[in-house]
Amino acid sequence: MRVILFGATGMVGQGVLRECLLDSGIESVLAVGRSPTGQQHVKLHEILHDNFTDYSAIESQLTGYDACFFCLGVSSVGMSEERYRHLTYDVTLAAATTLARLDPQMVFVYVTGRGTDSTERGRVMWARVKGKTENDLLKLPFKAAYMFRPAGIQPLHGIRSKTTWVQAIYVGAAPLLSLLTRVAPKYMTTTEQVGRAMIKVARDGYPRPVLESEDINRL
Ligand SMILES: NC(=O)c1ccc[n+]([C@@H]2O[C@H](COP(=O)([O-])OP(=O)(O)OC[C@H]3O[C@@H](n4cnc5c(N)ncnc54)[C@H](OP(=O)(O)O)[C@@H]3O)[C@@H](O)[C@H]2O)c1
Repeated sequence: MRVILFGATGMVGQGVLRECLLDSGIESVLAVGRSPTGQQHVKLHEILHDNFTDYSAIESQLTGYDACFFCLGVSSVGMSEERYRHLTYDVTLAAATTLARLDPQMVFVYVTGRGTDSTERGRVMWARVKGKTENDLLKLPFKAAYMFRPAGIQPLHGIRSKTTWVQAIYVGAAPLLSLLTRVAPKYMTTTEQVGRAMIKVARDGYPRPVLESEDINRL
């Protein structure tokens, strides 16, 4: 498989990149981001891009891929709804619409979160915005699209969150999180499991478009 990865410098994306580079079934990974991953690997190619709502300048480099793992995303903490919607809905749909037009045979995998509100009408702002994003992604003419809804994600293998407060929580609670990953798969997964599960659904498909934490852990 040839894979495009958005958000490769983030906590989730670093985990997905690691698993892609280790997986012998992945031929190449194209990381599209605003900052470099800092990694060198024979399978890894990177495009540094600065406008995440317009891909016209790099479209020709986005063709010929089997899957897109979209791990670019921000926390809504301290953010207005307008800004969060822009960075979540507008940015994700701009990339996905471009890719679906360029190659409808592609599989698109998006990371949302546990509690995402598919009705788009609930009281929790981030959940409504992610719900609308999921719903509209599922309408695009991809071969398949999968929505990953992890709850907590324990970073493994030295991976760090770009979000300072998230990183502080993960460092402080590391022993508890390891335990939770084992005993409460509904609430906790790992960067390794998320990466492996993305590769698996892109390769083999999955019976449902929305995967919760326990589905991710079972794959
Ligand atoms: N971490 C968790 O426990 C967790 C749990 C459930 C769901 N999620 C979801 O997973 C997704 C990724 O989370 P994460 O923890 O990996 O976040 P993170 O560590 O903060 O990384 C965010 C990624 O998105 C990129 N990004 C952020 N704002 C951008 C912008 N304006 N333009 C271009 N790129 C931008 C960052 O690029 P730079 O390196 O250039 O900043 C980085 O690659 C989010 O949607 C989050 O809601 C995370």
